[in-house]
Amino acid sequence: MIPFADQLSHLLGHAFSKLGLDPALGGVVRAQKAEFGHFQCNGAMAGAKQLGKNPRDLAQEIASQVSHDPLIGSCEAAGPGFLNIKVSDQSFCLQGQAIAADPRAGAQWVDVPRKVIVDYAGPNVAKSMHVGHLRATIIGDSIKRIYRFRGDQVWGDAHFGDWGFQMGLLITALAQEQPSLPYFDPDFSGPYPESSPVALDDLERLYPIAAALAKTDAHARDLARKATAELQAGRPGYRALWCHFVAVSREALVREFKALGVTFDLWLGESDADPLIEAMIKDLEAKGLLQDDQGARVVFVHDKMVPKKDGGEGPNVAPLLVVSSEGSAMYGTTDLATIVDRVARFGVDLIIYCVDQRQSDHFETVFRAADKAGYMPRSGLDHIGFGTMNGRDGKPFKTREGGVLKLHDLILMVQEKAQAKMDEAGIGLDWPNQERADIAHKVGIAALKFADLHNFRGTSYIFDLERFLSFEGKTGPYLLYAAVRMKSILRKAEEAGYQAGSVGLLESAERDLILVLDGFEYALRGAYEKRAPHHLADHAYQLAGAFSVFYAACPILGATEAGLRSSRLTLVRASLNQLLIALDLLGIEAPERM
Ligand code: ARG
Repeated sequence: MIPFADQLSHLLGHAFSKLGLDPALGGVVRAQKAEFGHFQCNGAMAGAKQLGKNPRDLAQEIASQVSHDPLIGSCEAAGPGFLNIKVSDQSFCLQGQAIAADPRAGAQWVDVPRKVIVDYAGPNVAKSMHVGHLRATIIGDSIKRIYRFRGDQVWGDAHFGDWGFQMGLLITALAQEQPSLPYFDPDFSGPYPESSPVALDDLERLYPIAAALAKTDAHARDLARKATAELQAGRPGYRALWCHFVAVSREALVREFKALGVTFDLWLGESDADPLIEAMIKDLEAKGLLQDDQGARVVFVHDKMVPKKDGGEGPNVAPLLVVSSEGSAMYGTTDLATIVDRVARFGVDLIIYCVDQRQSDHFETVFRAADKAGYMPRSGLDHIGFGTMNGRDGKPFKTREGGVLKLHDLILMVQEKAQAKMDEAGIGLDWPNQERADIAHKVGIAALKFADLHNFRGTSYIFDLERFLSFEGKTGPYLLYAAVRMKSILRKAEEAGYQAGSVGLLESAERDLILVLDGFEYALRGAYEKRAPHHLADHAYQLAGAFSVFYAACPILGATEAGLRSSRLTLVRASLNQLLIALDLLGIEAPERM
């Protein structure tokens, strides 16, 4: 299926080229206002300038060239030289039918598939996820789905934060609390206990205390740095203990991701890059890129010097810290080695990092270093940042007590509230409890994800559960409701033995619906090219809206004539299939009924 805009651009482009002009001038866009038609083309103005002609005359000429085409209902020159285009009814019917017959609901494939890794969520050892991880998780998951759907070969990687200074902090904090554990005895010859000496709760309790202490106490900081370096150098007790940290954290995290409906194809950690670091450092050395900087070893990646706040001059991009003065690998070191690994193991063409935009400097540094060292071109690396989910005070969302809300608690809260809303609306009061709970979960997750994804990712937004969960307006539950309504129509049609059939067009609401369905491919391209799921979220919302106008204006099961009914059933099928695909690409699942 080829979207109208592509068909029209091709047709008009041909007309322009026949006059010796660039076919790109024939590009059309959706008309701004319904009274201008369905699409418009503005190329005659630029074309006329090149030919030294009156733009309105040129527009007229193009119009008369294309008007006979079966695609065109009407094509008129307007204003200073615009072309206002209406698609023919016959084309509307064919398009509606083609979308309904297409399992991909009108979506195309990318011309040249690439190998892509989406690095998202970035959970850490010792930290159960909180609202701050929500955006990295759901935006990244959606990007992964969109890329895969368009035909790329995609791996989602959690890039588990299981290495580096935090590990040293945890080791020293536990050594303080339980010094007699065998992990700390350098003479212990094993084997180490199989069960973990700590639960996730212990890690979560120890970590913030240790982190805070290290900020103020130089001795504590030195101990943690030393422990980090020893862990990385392979000290057996520390390695054994670290394995426990990783295992207990991971188990809890996987549970939370599952509740969000998020999975990963790879669960590699920062630690997995460690075995590559030594060779990478040698390579950087050999390429003359590694330089000493106050005891540490860095790669300079700036391209100019700029004035600094304190009056001096400094590089415009911070250097990449590869080896700290204690000899440890740093966050950026593992990121660089992970690039080397991803290229070697997966042959990736593109890595998309879905990480808080406050890390943009970090990524700029890593990407430049990767480019400079010849590991991966800068153009194959993209950090897609995002804003924060804020409380009503406009600051990153906190609980009423001022703490950070854990993701697990957030999901429970949303689900409970969704259940209460459904009860209030009298939805499914006599359905089985298990089904009710499942619907509430789906509604809750749809509310959270859609509220996030319908904003451009760069903007921050305010956490307002009441609004997210509303059944009206631009919300997840509204979209689920639309999907469920479509499903119910199709169920009833089946019960009555009604068949879907060829599309014959009558009402303007039907044209409008097909016009929206036709825009799916463009929404996908936008989401894909700009790496911004909101294009797709917008589309899903428009589709639900156009469907509800159609539903109100055009009797379906109650249509007086069988041909009309079967035509409308085809449109319902096309709408449902496309809406479910769009929702799935946003990571949202619709229940059977609600
Ligand atoms: N674990 C990191 C954090 O919590 C995020 C990891 C993002 N991905 C990466 N490749 N650096 O800040």
